[in-house]
Amino acid sequence: MNFVMKPHQKAYPQEFLEDVLTGLSASRRYISPRWLYDKIGSEFFEAITDLPEYYVTRTEMKILRQVAPEFAEIIGPNASLVEYGAGAATKARVFLNAFSKPSEYVAIDISFDHLEQSLKQLAEDFPNLKVRPIAGDFLSETISTDLGGDTQKVGFFPGSTIGNLSNDEIATFLQNARNSLGDGSYFILGADLRKSPEILIPAYDDNQKVTAGFNMNLLARINRELGGTIELSKFRHKVVWNDNLSQIEMHLESLENQSFQIAGSTFSIGQGETIHTENSRKFRHEELKDLIGNNGWEITRYETGKNGYFAVMLLRAK
Ligand code: AVI
Repeated sequence: MNFVMKPHQKAYPQEFLEDVLTGLSASRRYISPRWLYDKIGSEFFEAITDLPEYYVTRTEMKILRQVAPEFAEIIGPNASLVEYGAGAATKARVFLNAFSKPSEYVAIDISFDHLEQSLKQLAEDFPNLKVRPIAGDFLSETISTDLGGDTQKVGFFPGSTIGNLSNDEIATFLQNARNSLGDGSYFILGADLRKSPEILIPAYDDNQKVTAGFNMNLLARINRELGGTIELSKFRHKVVWNDNLSQIEMHLESLENQSFQIAGSTFSIGQGETIHTENSRKFRHEELKDLIGNNGWEITRYETGKNGYFAVMLLRAK
């Protein structure tokens, strides 16, 4: 990671600092959701996936188990599975178990520590599998997966993380994956679907306040890493359903007029103003077809399970 020195000689992580300073200076303040996931944030997210209100992970897991045998049959033997933003690699196991003679598992994640631990166990459980962690941002065009040989390439992007990206980011991501996985490749994609706000809002504003902790940790992280002086008690976690854009939005709302410092710069924010920290889009089938079809892939299987909450898709390179 690069560090930048500020006048008082403290080193700050450069990209994080620049993103935060830019986002907080905008007329509508925002910070990219990628900064939610430091070690503490990743732990909060793991806890979210077990919450009774957060249907996403449970629903997807059920569909993954259902479709794995059929997808494995279509994909065939010697698969190289490339997971983007792998984390605990739990979902990949469903396919590695279903595939005939899987050849390789490549896991890309920002947090290398997290990856190393979970992959160690995976390598023990699959002794014939080549396991390769890559530390990096899967959205970066320069990320190289170095997939050689004559294995069957399969991309894997579960969890509806695609819903946390903008249309431009989705386009770049799908095209890059198409180019690096190559002709004849497949891609397994998970995407959350539109449903009633009565189900969506509690999923992002749970009773135990775990999601609030996940969101508020971003302010704590700014204090820890960027010399911030933000008083957390002067903010609250706010969740909005934006029906027009079909997305859940997470914000941090200022409870009073206040000022704070970050790396020596002063910011003022009024009561009721918010910092927008994440979009979680809830897709329609048609929209997914367009996004995927315009960016190098076609949908060959589309499974939503009984309640139609979530889609797991098998894509084929066009
Ligand atoms: C990682 N991502 C798919 C989660 C979501 O549901 O959008 C992140 C999350 N944010 C709050 N709760 C979960």
